[in-house]
Amino acid sequence: MRRKLAAGNWKMNGLGASLADLRVLADSHPEPSVDLLICPPATLLHPARAITEGTAIALGGQDCHTEVSGAFTGDLSAEMLGDAGATAVILGHSERRDKHRETSEEVRVKARAAHAAGLMTVICLGESMFQREATNTLDIIGAQLSLSVPDTSTGENLVIAYEPVWAIGSGMTPTPEQIGEVHTFMRARLEKRFGPGVGRSVRLLYGGSVKAANAAEIFSIPDVDGALVGGASLKASDFSPIIEALESA
Ligand code: PGA
Repeated sequence: MRRKLAAGNWKMNGLGASLADLRVLADSHPEPSVDLLICPPATLLHPARAITEGTAIALGGQDCHTEVSGAFTGDLSAEMLGDAGATAVILGHSERRDKHRETSEEVRVKARAAHAAGLMTVICLGESMFQREATNTLDIIGAQLSLSVPDTSTGENLVIAYEPVWAIGSGMTPTPEQIGEVHTFMRARLEKRFGPGVGRSVRLLYGGSVKAANAAEIFSIPDVDGALVGGASLKASDFSPIIEALESA
């Protein structure tokens, strides 16, 4: 049985004052029947830990370096994220693949480093609209999946988020059939590579314009084990109904 996961990606949003909302979120869901993960900017991990300690909310980073330490100005290692309170890290988000030119090979090396530091990785995959229209989406996802996911993956330390680039922050979402097609495909690929035991225990999230109004429909799609939520995770009042929809899915 896979435990469902509602994950929030705050991206480059949030100052110290935003932590009040994190407290509201923690207080609103003292014993959720799903896992909760919030990935604030790294500057807030340490103060966020003081709020989420002893609550159901786990914390994550949004990226990490491939190395443990060294002369890499401005970068953060997986070990540092863990030290600041993170138990997970998002890797290969399309904004990093696009704006920081991250490749799937780099994502895989980062994921290996994160696993070595004991972090769960939420590895993001997704096609652009151009790719969806010009080629076969499953070929794109298949290539990203095999290159981005390291051999160190297990059912506990790997979560995959399918996030079509064109659905992120756009208000557009794929049809349930389109989401289902990709998730079924990813499940089959994972089972083939890692065997049915591990393949069936990896959680598969959907991400891209998830909100209260569409959450229940998305969570009813087979092999959707939760969501990676951007904009609607910033306020507890927006994220709570998504958590509740996942709990009742
Ligand atoms: P969105 O972002 O929910 O604002 O579309 C999702 C994401 O980028 O993870």
